Amino acid sequence: MTKVTVIGAGHVGEIVAFGLAQREIVNEVLLLDIVEDMPQGKALDMFESTPISSSDTKIWGSNDFSQMKDSDIVVVAAGVPRKPGMDRMDLLKVNVSICKSVVGNIKEHAPNAMIIYVANPVDVLTYSAMHLSGFSKNKVFGMAGILDTARYRSFIAMEANVSTKDIRAMVLGGHGDSMVPLPRYTTIGGIPLSEFLSQEKIDAIVNRTRKGGGEIVNLLKTGSAYYAPGLAVAEMVEAIVRDQKRVLPVVAYLDNHYGFSDVYAGVPVILGKNGVEKIIEIELNDDERKAYTESISHVKQGVEEVKTLL
Ligand code: LAC
Repeated sequence: MTKVTVIGAGHVGEIVAFGLAQREIVNEVLLLDIVEDMPQGKALDMFESTPISSSDTKIWGSNDFSQMKDSDIVVVAAGVPRKPGMDRMDLLKVNVSICKSVVGNIKEHAPNAMIIYVANPVDVLTYSAMHLSGFSKNKVFGMAGILDTARYRSFIAMEANVSTKDIRAMVLGGHGDSMVPLPRYTTIGGIPLSEFLSQEKIDAIVNRTRKGGGEIVNLLKTGSAYYAPGLAVAEMVEAIVRDQKRVLPVVAYLDNHYGFSDVYAGVPVILGKNGVEKIIEIELNDDERKAYTESISHVKQGVEEVKTLL
């Protein structure tokens, strides 16, 4: 029996819930939100789709946070999204106040759950959730790298005219415009990326990946991406509940990893039934290390700011 609660029934939360139900990843999905009747309506509509998709997942909605009891995993998708012209860090003040209330509820009603944080700025809010909950660090982590890597893989597929399926890649660092896609660790069907694309094209893809979230925000104008973010979370949940030991980029707590401590940021991890089971440290060359250090320094600034707000 696996129960996942998704807090925040906005666009990202509903895609997480729908992705979990469609793929029959868990037994039960609870969609929670403070807006009256809205999570109930969305969840009922999704449950009514399960006879068509032949899924046995029970999915329901509520405004009552005590209903999250016995959850194995709580996904936090509650928060305000970016609008054009905003940086993810601009959301810190408003989304940290939501984080405080949400994490208070998780502590009270689902003290044994793992927390997957999604709202932005995700690295800093995951740090806040760990502090506020007091849960162990391997059980509090965030989603960003799977999304960033998926974008990077999509752009490579478009440019190289190959299937997205065959592209293996890694994006490290904070979930901001200074994130660090790693072309040196990118392959298409096991063949180095440089065999397919010129350095100029690779540089353009790296740049587009870094700004990939903003590209969607500028197109949508009213909010940020949700299909790719939602399915990225579903992939993390699947890795945990099926104990797959997937090697995925996750927002994890760095404790003397890559030369950093007391900060959350994107690193490759082994994700299984115990959450973040291991952080994998890969060798970085001078340029990659410089870019990584710059990215983490942005997150560190956010962490210093959030410490004054907790
Ligand atoms: C993005 C937001 C959700 O990258 O952070 O689309």
